[in-house]
Formats: sequence, structure tokens, C-alpha cells
Amino acid sequence: MGMRVGYIQFSPVFGEKGRNLERVSELVEGAEADLLVLPELFSTGYVFASKHELSRLSEPIPDGPTTRRLFEISAQKRVHLVAGIPERGGDGLYNSAVLVSPDRSFKVYRKAHLFREEKSYFRPGDTPFEVYSIGGARVGIIICFDWIFPEAVRVLSLKGAQIICQPSNLILPYCQDAMVTRAIENRVFVLSLIHI
Ligand code: ACM
Repeated sequence: MGMRVGYIQFSPVFGEKGRNLERVSELVEGAEADLLVLPELFSTGYVFASKHELSRLSEPIPDGPTTRRLFEISAQKRVHLVAGIPERGGDGLYNSAVLVSPDRSFKVYRKAHLFREEKSYFRPGDTPFEVYSIGGARVGIIICFDWIFPEAVRVLSLKGAQIICQPSNLILPYCQDAMVTRAIENRVFVLSLIHI
């Protein structure tokens, strides 16, 4: 059975979570897809001025308002969403991606390889690289800078991933080329940001 997939590429307005969610809702409404990937930290934007600001904008998963709204969008459109959000975990803040499904199930991946200033704000991820079955496909998640370590996608592909979802805010100019390499060397499809 075929699967329609895509990436919702847009420019989040920093700190405007409600506005960013509604923009995503509109864009998802106009898309015909079974699986859509959103950017890294799509709900808040990426450049935090302080840990205090990040803390204020972070939310628990799945009980925060952003994940709750993603559940609604997913259920309405019958689409799986992989979305990057700042997560308030029990023991600290994580740069996370949540996979939400129309049946209201969810999975969380916390970014393992933090990039530059992210290290001052977030804890390194403590979730394994896991593969999830959605529809007829097996899907793995990395977040942005995880790409630089070939082992991340290799582990997912060895575990059977067919599609790699990569919520991203790609800054370095050669990431997209590297992700083409990751796709070829592991024989997987990649859903990532196209250009910046
Ligand atoms: C990055 O990991 N946002 C470059």
C-alpha cells in the first residue's frame, strides 16, 4: 500500500505558540498526506535568549497545550505528525520530537546530539533511537544535528526503519547533502528541511 508523506516547511514566529500552531493547522488542512514532519522547535522558534525563556515556553508531553492541539489536528485530518517542541520533562528541558497519531497514541524522541548553544539550555536526550510502525511503514526519528553522526540513522536503519523523519532547523550549509548521503548509504527515505 502506498503512503503519502511530506514536510511542513514554514517560518515560526518566535514565542507565538498559538499563532504557529494555527499556521500549522492551516498548512496541514491543505495537505493530502498520511505522514507529515514539522520543523525542530516548530511551536516556539529556535533562538532562546535565556534558559528562563526556554523554560517558560516548554511544555510537558503529552499533557501540554501544544501536544493536545497536535492530537486534534492529527485526528481531524487522519495524519501522523512528527513535530519538534521544547519538552519540560520531569528532570529538565529537552529538545524533543513528538509523533502523534490519529488514534491519539504518541511517542517521544529527545535530541541526542545538541548543537552549540542548545547545550546550555537543554539536557541531552535520554531516549533510544526507536522504530515505530505507522500505517504500513516503519519510521525512525532524528532531530537536526543528529545527522552529523552517521550512527544515528544507521542504528535506525538496522532496526528496520524505512523512513527517517528529521524535524530540523538546519544551519550548516551542507546538511541537506549529508542527508542525501544518509539516505543512500542506509537505503532509507528521509523527510527533512529542503533549504534555508
Ligand atoms: C541544529 O541542530 N539545529 C543545527
